[in-house]
Amino acid sequence: MFDHSKIEKNSILMLIGILIVVSIGGIVEIAPLFYLESTIEKVRGMRPYTPLELAGRNIYIREGCYNCHSQMVRPFRDEIERYGPYSLAAESMYDHPFQWGSKRTGPDLARVGGKYSDDWHREHMINPRAVVPESVMPGYSFLMDAPVRIAGFAGHLAANRAVGVPYTDAMIAATETDMAAQVDPDGDGAEALVKRYPKAQVRDFDGRPGKPSEMDALIAYLQMLGTLVDFSAYKAQENLR
Ligand code: HEC
Repeated sequence: MFDHSKIEKNSILMLIGILIVVSIGGIVEIAPLFYLESTIEKVRGMRPYTPLELAGRNIYIREGCYNCHSQMVRPFRDEIERYGPYSLAAESMYDHPFQWGSKRTGPDLARVGGKYSDDWHREHMINPRAVVPESVMPGYSFLMDAPVRIAGFAGHLAANRAVGVPYTDAMIAATETDMAAQVDPDGDGAEALVKRYPKAQVRDFDGRPGKPSEMDALIAYLQMLGTLVDFSAYKAQENLR
């Protein structure tokens, strides 16, 4: 019989024992990952963000929305009933950095796209208490009067491409026209934009026609969240309902 008391009474032996056990556990978890081509299952519908959505995402990060909002529906019954299908890895594959988060002062936003109207979002962003009286969310009314910085935004797409987002040369070249086209449904550029970015929503998000404001960008981003993958095609999730 192995005499346990020897290890338990000798801190160095104990330490060596712990190191051996932890390394075995670590190797078992990590080694298989080196033999997988990809840890992310491909999912139909995912596409890089449009320039306006990407600008909205940048504003989301700049304003620290992630301090109060997560973007990951966990695979638990209560989450799925509240927010919809649980998040797939592929849904955040173009997020650099990802916005999963763990702090939920407010609700999860991974599937907020299409839940409310643009008007609702605008009023809520300007003054959350105007639509949800008990809200503790701060207002972001200044986004209405801040124009999105369009010049040079192609650099953001190029930077995302450098870390693996499949933006094409054509997408990068059209950054500035695509940005303006997404808030101008009657303009010439809308069709080309939707061709490059399927399911892109084209409309005047902030209710003020003209050049896109930061409010346009943020609402375009929020309205896209969780809408790219068609979940009616994913039967696996039925098991959790
Ligand atoms: C101090 C914490 C806090 C911050 C920061 C914050 N929120 Fe919220 N948010 C909340 C709370 C609490 C609610 C729930 C009450 C409400 O609807 O206002 C909420 C609700 C929301 C909703 C409605 C979600 C739903 O499903 O009903 C959206 C959309 C939203 N926030 C977006 C944002 C965005 C975008 C930002 C950054 C510009 C942001 N929030 C920053 C706390 C916060």
